[in-house]
Amino acid sequence: MHSTNHPEGTLKNIVLVGFMGCGKSSVGRAISSQLNYPQIDIDCSISDAAALTIPQIFESKGEAHFRLMETECLQQIIAEKIHHHIISTGGGIPVASANRALLPQLGYVVWLRARPQTIFERTQNTKHRPLLNQEDRLQTITQLLEQRTPLYEEVAQLKVNTDELPVDEISHGIIESARYFFKNS
Ligand code: S3P
Repeated sequence: MHSTNHPEGTLKNIVLVGFMGCGKSSVGRAISSQLNYPQIDIDCSISDAAALTIPQIFESKGEAHFRLMETECLQQIIAEKIHHHIISTGGGIPVASANRALLPQLGYVVWLRARPQTIFERTQNTKHRPLLNQEDRLQTITQLLEQRTPLYEEVAQLKVNTDELPVDEISHGIIESARYFFKNS
């Protein structure tokens, strides 16, 4: 695990970012039950607000519109000063520069990482991720991951490799690092 500096005035949330299939939802659930903090899943919030599934939003409104919906959701959390929550994001959240500017204001940003092959195995039986519904899924994952790595790097204060670690170990490590971060912020 590796940590870097953080901005002033950060809300006290733990924010999980990372590529599809890196465990944001499952690690989020584990941290949420260990700390007894509610979890906000940005994809679910968007889907509920629009009364559409994520694939339907991509199909009817396009990816750019979906990114705007992500931005609005992040802005709402900041406006409402929501804290002591676990915030799980969609894998493409740092693609929009507006989102990259907002993420560190939400709390301690943790980047969950995995190798392309691990992501491929974890996502191979899922169909609800429009960006992965391509003929060569492994190649799509490899390319997207390469494009997005510097963007995750830009927003994250902690990076955690999830390939070999069980969810419980990952969540305990994140909680300890977050305690240290907030104690010193
Ligand atoms: C996306 C990741 C998805 C979801 C949407 C777009 C992406 O979330 O937001 O399909 O661009 O990587 P998960 O990372 O939870 O699958």
